[in-house]
Amino acid sequence: MPVQLTMCRFCIRSRPEVQRTVAQLVKEFPNQIEVEELDCIAACDDVPAIMIETDYHPQVAPCELARLIRERLSPQATSAHPVGVPAPYPPA
Ligand code: FES
Repeated sequence: MPVQLTMCRFCIRSRPEVQRTVAQLVKEFPNQIEVEELDCIAACDDVPAIMIETDYHPQVAPCELARLIRERLSPQATSAHPVGVPAPYPPA
């Protein structure tokens, strides 16, 4: 089942760097990302905002968006520890 990204079609166009990152991620993970553009996601004060499934990410930077998606879709490639599982402390 693809990861769903939901964003505002108007606000995302004001942030071409985020739009490019989304396009790169869709290309990097074919058939694993579903992009839904709505007329407004009620995040007008938090642009660029994006929903990844049900998680809201306000004022997301392109590199942060890429990290979040890569962690979801290829957790072993970006982190030794899955999302939500704390790393041991102190680090080895
Ligand atoms: S008009 Fe873009 S989030 Fe509201």
